[in-house]
Amino acid sequence: MLVPMRILLDHAAENNYGVAALNVNNMEQIQAIMEAAKETNSPVIIQASRGARKYTNDAYLRHLMLAAAELYPDIPVAMHLDHGNAPDTCFSAIQQGFTSVMMDGSLRDDGKTPTTFDENVAVTKKVVDVAHAFGVTVEGEIGVLGGIEDGHGAGGSGLDHVTDPVQAEQFVAATGVDALAVAIGTSHGAYKFDKKPTGDVLKMNIIEEIHRRLPNTHLVMHGSSSVPRELVDLINKYGGKMKESYGVPLEEIQRGIKHGVRKVNVDTDNRLAITGAIRQLFAEKPDKFDPRDYMTPAREAMKKVCVERMTAFGQAGNASKIKPASLTTMVAFYSKKK
Ligand code: G3H
Ligand code: 13P
Ligand code: ZN
Repeated sequence: MLVPMRILLDHAAENNYGVAALNVNNMEQIQAIMEAAKETNSPVIIQASRGARKYTNDAYLRHLMLAAAELYPDIPVAMHLDHGNAPDTCFSAIQQGFTSVMMDGSLRDDGKTPTTFDENVAVTKKVVDVAHAFGVTVEGEIGVLGGIEDGHGAGGSGLDHVTDPVQAEQFVAATGVDALAVAIGTSHGAYKFDKKPTGDVLKMNIIEEIHRRLPNTHLVMHGSSSVPRELVDLINKYGGKMKESYGVPLEEIQRGIKHGVRKVNVDTDNRLAITGAIRQLFAEKPDKFDPRDYMTPAREAMKKVCVERMTAFGQAGNASKIKPASLTTMVAFYSKKK
């Protein structure tokens, strides 16, 4: 069943766990996530970036998500827009049936240039006003993640624009967002750190301080792939040329979850799992040419990563405990808060 993201995050906060927000671009990725959710009895957040919407087309995406909701009536699923770059992007997602949107006003609509605090507040508040009128959840971002040049991010290291806890507090008060993405030294993609991150590079103490100031705001960790060594090794064993890299250790994410992190964004790890499985199949069975021969192990490999994350973040076992709510219920909730 499709639900507003806010109810998943509220349940996670009440019960001290985190929910993986997993990116999708096609049917097999949605299937992998739903099968992992069914196996582990997990609520799920499925998210699509602007790139995913362009690649897939909103109509395909909407129907695939509706199929997931129909096939898994016992799994609460939030459909979330990842890194909306402008209010119009969020509004078109709402029209397409997304139950949650991210207005990433930390960057201009080019997805690269950092904004001022006031610019960020203005675009985010505009989205909150409209989204909440439809019962749709809103995630904002303060501070800027590092990033690969072709993805969403300022392009620098994750340490260039770490979130200021005082500004985080002011931002939530000024915008009314449900969830807040914070920058603590991570970046998107496979190349985050060149050695296992210590406290100087991954600033978990900033999460703790923000949670102390904003105990009722759901915090979001972007760039949270762990970049497992075995997946990079598998890719390289079968002809890949990935450089050595370190991601965010699971134990650091678990520490974040103890301090208010409720949504944990993971995309790269699933991309690695899919690529490793396809490369292996191509190398070991070069006579194969039916896409089902390589998409089946790819989907299975992604499902395995999803099961591991759902278990590590604590969302496993919780799907059946969540009382579903509709967008209409949330409209009433938000209008009472005004
Ligand atoms: O924000 C980063 C996510 O991994 C989505 O990436 O923009 O390449 O779809 P993308
Ligand atoms: P990773 O690249 O670490 O998987 O991060 C994904 C993300 O933050 C999507 O918004
Ligand atoms: Zn992100």
